[in-house]
Amino acid sequence: MAIPERFIEELSARCDLVDVVGDYVPLTKKGKDYWGLCPFHNEKTPSFSVSPEKRLFCCFGCGKKGVGSIYFIMEKEGLSFPDAVRFLARRVGMEVPETGEDPGYRRRRERLLELNKQAARFFHSQMEEEAGAEGRAYLYEKRKLSRGIITRFGLGVAPDGWDHLIAAMSALGYEKQDLLEAGLAVKNQNGRIYDRFRNRVMFPIINVRGEVIGFGGRVLDDSTPKYLNSPDTPVYNKSRNLFALNIAKKSKQGRIILTEGYMDTISLHQAGFDCAVASLGTALTQEHAQLIARYAPEAVIAYDGDQAGVTAAQRAIPILEKTGMEVKVLRVTGAKDPDEYLKTYGPEAFAKLIDRSDNHIEYRLGQIQSKYRLEDDGQKVEFLRECAQLVAGLKSPLERDIYGTRCAKLCGVSPEAMAQAVGEERRQRRRTEERRQRRRDLNPAAQLQPKERDLRYENMKSARAEEGVLRLLMLDEGMFRSLGRLKEEDFSSPFLGRVYGLFLERHREGKPVEPELLAGQLTPEQVGRLAEILNHPEGLSHGEEAMRDYIKMIETERAKRREDVDPLLAAREKYLEKKSYGGRSNE
Ligand code: CTP
Ligand code: MN
Repeated sequence: MAIPERFIEELSARCDLVDVVGDYVPLTKKGKDYWGLCPFHNEKTPSFSVSPEKRLFCCFGCGKKGVGSIYFIMEKEGLSFPDAVRFLARRVGMEVPETGEDPGYRRRRERLLELNKQAARFFHSQMEEEAGAEGRAYLYEKRKLSRGIITRFGLGVAPDGWDHLIAAMSALGYEKQDLLEAGLAVKNQNGRIYDRFRNRVMFPIINVRGEVIGFGGRVLDDSTPKYLNSPDTPVYNKSRNLFALNIAKKSKQGRIILTEGYMDTISLHQAGFDCAVASLGTALTQEHAQLIARYAPEAVIAYDGDQAGVTAAQRAIPILEKTGMEVKVLRVTGAKDPDEYLKTYGPEAFAKLIDRSDNHIEYRLGQIQSKYRLEDDGQKVEFLRECAQLVAGLKSPLERDIYGTRCAKLCGVSPEAMAQAVGEERRQRRRTEERRQRRRDLNPAAQLQPKERDLRYENMKSARAEEGVLRLLMLDEGMFRSLGRLKEEDFSSPFLGRVYGLFLERHREGKPVEPELLAGQLTPEQVGRLAEILNHPEGLSHGEEAMRDYIKMIETERAKRREDVDPLLAAREKYLEKKSYGGRSNE
């Protein structure tokens, strides 16, 4: 699991940021920096810059910024820190020395992944063979899939028969035992081993790293079971993987569409919705949700229109909401599932469904309703009050009207009375918002504050100086000599203090103080903040003077904080400090 830090240091030194970014977008040199089209959003004129010197990247269009190649890959490919390290290592041909993991287990996993890849190739190749004629006809004619989409998803056919795959794989040197372990073969009571997938069209399941980890196979007619899926294996776990996320993670549509089925997802991709994924014949798990949340801020649930689909959607909403994503529920009407909907009404109609998908209002109404007994007059009032709050939050007047009326009907009051309650709630909200806005106007510094609480600065003056200290340390390690007695606790911002602490520790252990090496320990917003700090101009010619000024500012501000808390203690500290001035230091 763990990758030795020395390796990460060497890797990051070897991966030039300009090269790594250059794999995604062409860059041209202008002055000291490189410029190109932003790889994180769609644009026509370049607003993305890379500074090779500071190892920074920054987009002036979408605001994306960060430090170093590893972090760039984390964001671009949607990988965790260790996975981004492995990804880059493959790119430069370095072998990752994994520690803390049984090497036998790792080899077995790799063998299974390779076998799965070969199996996917075999199934795909059968599309061109006589044995695959029926399956090919099914995909092209019955399901109306294009050649392009079949290739993109690597779809294939498992021919009819007991051991086509076993034979093909043993020709490549695999044992029956390997196929059993990969879930590609099964053993009956008599001990006979045969292909699991027979006479089915095959959907390879590919993880975000691009590895084939399992398969789903569908019958060509109405027989059962309709789908067969790979069982959980050392490389496949259905509650941790989503079908098509390997493609959807690169989508620029800003959302993930979550469907129930393979075919729904594939149809959506064919219709241009390249952000669709499917949970694989299993209820959505928290791990699925977490995975999705890494790639988009919004999830649109597009399950089947039947009761089972509605129930599954209701179950999925709180799981997705927990990750902080915006959650919407889309209801297909006039078709059983998104696949059929697209075939009947076309992509534009589906796009409208997405636009109209509401903020899971139906679901929330249902939730409120289940809390009250509406025969009771007292509870009725409470119910309406809560509904008024819900309805008041809806943006469109039409929606407010529709849902308001529905609530009113539920407990037999007039729609006008409900509308009045909603109106009152909205007026009150407006007043609160106006008050808040006035307060913000009076305190412009607060407007510049980031959303993440950890990154908000209580003491702007001190925080700017703290940033200065970190910047100088990042730019020139010689600056560690000028720190004097400055301690982590002196920092007013817990975040900056923590980074300072990490810097000190690395320096003490003789490790390089590259902010990009911290990417695994920080949130994206925190890495962005470090990039900002580093990006701020700072002349190194007067570095030591600047450092002295920063430290003085931090200490003055800290003393003020102490005085607020305990004037006596503050006085004593000041005295001790004076006495030992120029004495012990961090070096
Ligand atoms: N599923 C499964 N095993 C089954 C039936 C369904 O694993 N016996 C899973 C599959 O992942 C399937 C999903 O549940 O894609 C949704 O099932 P269903 O709506 O029945 O299938 P569709 O994807 O709509 O397939 P089709 O359009 O081919 O009927
Ligand atoms: Mn379906």
